[in-house]
Amino acid sequence: MKITVAGAGYVGLVTSAGLAELGHSITCIDIEKEKIDMLQNGLSPIYEPGLELLIKKNLRNGQLKFTMSPDQAYSAADIIFIAVGTPEEKDGSVDLKYIHVVSHTIAHYIKKDVIVCTKSTVPVGTNELIKQIIQSRKSTSINAEVVSNPEFLREGSAVLDFFQGDRIVIGADNPEAATIMEQIYLPLKIPIIKTDIKSAEMIKYTSNAFLATKISFINEIANLCEKVGANIEEVAYGIGYDKRIGHEFLKAGIGYGGSCFPKDTRALVQLAGNVKYPFELLEAAIKVNNHQQSLPVLKAKELLGSLKNKRVAILGLAFKPDTDDVREAASLIIIKELLEEGALVRAYDPIAIPNAKKLLGNSIEYAYNLHYALYEADFAIIVTEWEQIKHVRLDIFQTYMKEPIVIDGRNCYSLEEIEKYPITYLSIGRQGVYKGRPKDEMSIINF
Ligand code: UGA
Repeated sequence: MKITVAGAGYVGLVTSAGLAELGHSITCIDIEKEKIDMLQNGLSPIYEPGLELLIKKNLRNGQLKFTMSPDQAYSAADIIFIAVGTPEEKDGSVDLKYIHVVSHTIAHYIKKDVIVCTKSTVPVGTNELIKQIIQSRKSTSINAEVVSNPEFLREGSAVLDFFQGDRIVIGADNPEAATIMEQIYLPLKIPIIKTDIKSAEMIKYTSNAFLATKISFINEIANLCEKVGANIEEVAYGIGYDKRIGHEFLKAGIGYGGSCFPKDTRALVQLAGNVKYPFELLEAAIKVNNHQQSLPVLKAKELLGSLKNKRVAILGLAFKPDTDDVREAASLIIIKELLEEGALVRAYDPIAIPNAKKLLGNSIEYAYNLHYALYEADFAIIVTEWEQIKHVRLDIFQTYMKEPIVIDGRNCYSLEEIEKYPITYLSIGRQGVYKGRPKDEMSIINF
């Protein structure tokens, strides 16, 4: 099988490298010259654990090629995966301009029967649109089947997810096309769900919306735990044992970010609105998430009063660990609010600083090591639970900070551990610890 992957972003690159590793012959095409130059030299333009190794190996053994030439990419392909970006419009709907362009290009260059398979996250009905564009533009002697094959890769563990995913979804109107797609993935031994195109498109949005709602739900329970004196970690552990609930995605914190959940939840609300269905539950999940991202600054103000000229150490800029992606990261909201309050921000992240710098410029100071971020800080906010951050010895906060006040947005430390140090520690869904002691013991200490 000759497979082409259109788009060398997260999805396109992991798909290309993963399929090449399975023994397929892959050509990955992108319009960005800089990206293709890097990739042809075996360098990954994104940070994703394990990806560069796979790219290098499969470039070397000839299974994987990168090109900017649509003729080279499309004319001899048996299967074409569409993995181009689907950015967000101002109203939350999906901007399909790259989908339109790539569909026209494919129609123009294909020279033989082909399956066009959509991996990009697209609203229900988009595959129908792709089909129409290709049908109307291609030569009449060529048969082009359109198939939906949404991806469920997580940034930071995308390579692992490719090989060990929970399921593969294939949405097709033509059973033969579905069977050919199935063959491609058989070596992975992952359950394959074959369905119609619209249901496949809907499965993708529903998965992300459900997980985002699960996070917002546990975050609301966390906020309630703080008020009634319970501990969210204990509560999440307790409910997770119910198999119908499960332990996954019950980590309370400062909300979900990234390029998927925020965008896809808004898109689903928009999609529902288009068919006059008010999706109130998802709207509430989005609202809760927005509030959750502001919690660290609210907590800091409650504790310290004015934040004007206070030095803040931000620990973590990426939207989650093991990625350099800062899209819709909680760090951006927190930093914006801190700057509005007149605070002085110094931020550390093991790898996301270059990407954060593109958005934040010189509005903050960047620390290339954690100790410098903490140095002379009035308080610290843990935003991303990187290994390098969550294992910081607690005496380090005491040593470097003006006052060891830590607002932990990801519940990295156990309260038991914290209470061994004279630290003031506020986390999510758990009782605050004030200078090493629980709040009730602290009524006599004046902040
Ligand atoms: C998500 C989905 O998990 C993937 O299945 C999907 O393919 C992908 O979106 C996509 O549509 O492309 P991703 O955004 O990379 O993947 O990362 P997740 O691990 O799902 O985390 C998303 C956000 O939720 C992060 O900000 C994370 O900190 C937060 N989160 C996650 C929590 O706050 N609590 C949790 O328990 C889990």
